[in-house]
Amino acid sequence: MGEKWVLMKTAQTPTNIAVIKYWGKRDETLILPVNDSISVTLDPAHLCTTTTVAVSPAFQQDRMWLNGKEMSLSGGRYQNCLREIRKRAREVEDKEKGIKIEKKDWEKLHLHIASYNNFPTAAGLASSAAGFACLVFALAKLMNVEEDESQLSAIARQGSGSACRSLFGGFVKWIMGKEEDGSDSLAVQLVDEKHWDDLFIIIAVVSSRQKETSSTSGMRESVETSLLLQHRAKEVVPKRTLKMEEAIKNRDFASFAKITCADSNQFHAVCLDTSPPIFYMNDTSHRIISHVEKWNRSEESPQVAYTFDAGPNAVLIAQNRKAAAQLLQRLLFSFPPKSDTDLDSYIIGDKTILKDAG
Ligand code: ADP
Ligand code: DP6
Ligand code: CO
Repeated sequence: MGEKWVLMKTAQTPTNIAVIKYWGKRDETLILPVNDSISVTLDPAHLCTTTTVAVSPAFQQDRMWLNGKEMSLSGGRYQNCLREIRKRAREVEDKEKGIKIEKKDWEKLHLHIASYNNFPTAAGLASSAAGFACLVFALAKLMNVEEDESQLSAIARQGSGSACRSLFGGFVKWIMGKEEDGSDSLAVQLVDEKHWDDLFIIIAVVSSRQKETSSTSGMRESVETSLLLQHRAKEVVPKRTLKMEEAIKNRDFASFAKITCADSNQFHAVCLDTSPPIFYMNDTSHRIISHVEKWNRSEESPQVAYTFDAGPNAVLIAQNRKAAAQLLQRLLFSFPPKSDTDLDSYIIGDKTILKDAG
């Protein structure tokens, strides 16, 4: 191996939004959840991470830049992902550039990683999901790793739990698993993106500011103090997951919307049941819920489902394009993005309406 070469790979991974939420770990290091969860993967054009990984004998140490700023890789989660991928690295040959990396070389070679999110980081829009899924996927490509998406999902899971669900499109289930070593805690695709392609997603970015309580510490506090979380994990989610799988399989929007909204509300109730309580939603989030509930009740069947992750931003899933158009009209009227008191922006199909241009 000469000293002059650099080998690079770039990957792009969309984020995902849970319709049955993951909230609580039974193992903090391996990131093993207390319940199964189900998510929908979003269109990468609007919310995605782009990560470039590079390897060169000239690199002195592993380094990473997130959104243009260097960050530390010393955290256990990054180290766990790097270790697990390096273990599976195989020989790589680029004849054109005259590069040959043997399996054993990967232990000594250092990496440079540059990642960008095209949406707010750490604001409750699942940046950790897109981020770690993309990191693992890009490294696997660079190192010629053979493992399939489900096996890679078990590695991405060790970066951030929700990341394991971003390796597939469509609707995805994270099976909590039973094994202590986490080997069966991985994601599977329930249906691909073509199965239910008339759904339309509008995200109301109520605030793009970084949240005060990270998902990791929030759910740790909930596990330690909330009795509702125990009840939810044991009694509620197992039954709800089955019903949700049925609704998705049958494209039954009424049932899908009912379960999605109920699960989001129960997750936020668990946050309130945590001591001290955690408030991820704000007044605007609550007003959006009331608005959608009222509208759904005035129609023959629900038009829109809402779900909120660990942040104030509303993810609104409309039954079809027509319902989405009506929803947008209602939102722009009741929650105009230009006012100071309302929200920051909307992310809609192929459009983003910004509160402050520039
Ligand atoms: P979110 O709701 O956005 O997922 P979290 O609190 O779960 O917020 O996680 C945010 C953290 O995820 C960031 O502080 C950072 O450590 C990590 N993260 C976000 N984006 C990326 C990325 N593109 N690559 C690697 N890590 C990322
Ligand atoms: C509310 O996956 O961000 O978005 O595993 O500690 O990194 P860590 O947490 P994270 O938690 C996501 C919580 C959620 C629900 C979900 O995505 O299922
Ligand atoms: Co996250």
